Amino acid sequence: MKGHTTRARHPRSSAGSHQLWGGRFAGGPHPALVAVNRSIDVDLRLWPFDVQLSKAWASTLVPARVLTAREAGRIRRGLDRVGRRIAAGVRILPADEDVHTLIDRLLHEEAGAVASRLHTGRSRNDQVATASRLYTMHAIDSTIGKMGALMRTCLDRAETLTGALMPAYTHLQRAQPVTAAHWLLAHFWALTRDVERLRAARRAAGVMPLGSGAVAGSAFRANRRRLARDLGFHSISPNSIDAVGDRDFMLETLFALATLAVHASRLAEDLILFGSSEFGFVRFGDAFSTGSSMMPQKRNPDALELARAFPGRVTGSLMALLMVLKGTPSGYNKDFQEDKRPLFDALDAAALLLPAITGTVRTLRFDRQRMRSAVSSAMMATDLADQMVRRRASFREAHAAVGSLVRQAEETGTDLSGLDPAAFAKAHPALGINARRELDPERSVRQREIEGGTGPLAVRRQLTEAMRMLDKL
Ligand code: ARG
Repeated sequence: MKGHTTRARHPRSSAGSHQLWGGRFAGGPHPALVAVNRSIDVDLRLWPFDVQLSKAWASTLVPARVLTAREAGRIRRGLDRVGRRIAAGVRILPADEDVHTLIDRLLHEEAGAVASRLHTGRSRNDQVATASRLYTMHAIDSTIGKMGALMRTCLDRAETLTGALMPAYTHLQRAQPVTAAHWLLAHFWALTRDVERLRAARRAAGVMPLGSGAVAGSAFRANRRRLARDLGFHSISPNSIDAVGDRDFMLETLFALATLAVHASRLAEDLILFGSSEFGFVRFGDAFSTGSSMMPQKRNPDALELARAFPGRVTGSLMALLMVLKGTPSGYNKDFQEDKRPLFDALDAAALLLPAITGTVRTLRFDRQRMRSAVSSAMMATDLADQMVRRRASFREAHAAVGSLVRQAEETGTDLSGLDPAAFAKAHPALGINARRELDPERSVRQREIEGGTGPLAVRRQLTEAMRMLDKL
């Protein structure tokens, strides 16, 4: 038969091949199968964790009477040498199917025949789940570290902006004056929630599947709790079928990263707008601006634009993994090999973008003059109405009276502060002689010392709270 002859041309024992399976087949796999099955290009980066869990597994095989203490020692030292060889850039052979196969092949070279005893009572199914979890925990720690740097930078910059006024926007229309520190802190708090979500995802990853074997649990009594402690997991999986088929921790990580990406894109968009000539609130530092190949005057915020695009990549990864997992039958399925690409891509994107955003924020120059002059007196219309309410007018009446003033100002091509003082008293009796001082933006922010408001003292307290939060991170 055709299929048979094709197989026969690719014998399994071909030189350089070190397969972990294949004994039950007459011939070797077709090159098309080898190509589609191979995952080493993606999963090689799991090697430090596969080495780590393999060393721990070797130790548990001693009390399980599979290895003598000396054999386990030989395997552990061999694995250390394997790790050094991979770190130094070992040559990957075409037959190295995945990172687990590579490490097994190299261990045979380093430790000899005893290496064949390591893969007892375990499967690549519990192995890859364990290594992916260790990787995720490690990568989340590093992501949080980079977020900490961005958050610290936001606080440093906010400190210097407590006295600077700017418009706050709703619908991207000038709404009310705020301190620039208050605006920047808004982005800070969103990031604190992302850190919390990443922490929760890390905790979801911290459940150890090792000892689940292929699906039914290892037939050799490994002390899983001790193994978990040694590897840095907080607990062990309660069900081996679930353990080899559970990728929820990846979904949670991707969702946390997607939300982080959305927040980063919003900060980026604020800054891109504020850096345009039309706003002119900020200027991007030289080290974080790019030029145009044609227009010599350009100063482009590329890092921020890439940050704005970041959710595309990351939510794409989240969707990809959800679709990989949906409808898979219980236990391990090869579908799951497609879990790592989206996970790694999202983590890589975060690792690249966070330092670039941090650098952009660190080197921004704020133009307080421009920010202050964008605060037009119409933005204090609410303050005017509030003042009338203090004089016993209802807010509804006040809103209507101030609205009529705004319309008059618009019609005469001036701002509220440019209106004739008499117009105020005419609009409503509660708009007395002092009404116009409500149009002072400094006064407006001082009215908002409520907790969480933009009053200068409230913002000071907010900054202190934010510092405390960051120190706890
Ligand atoms: N490379 C595989 C993965 O990433 C490892 C597990 C393979 N297990 C198996 N039974 N073929 O999922």
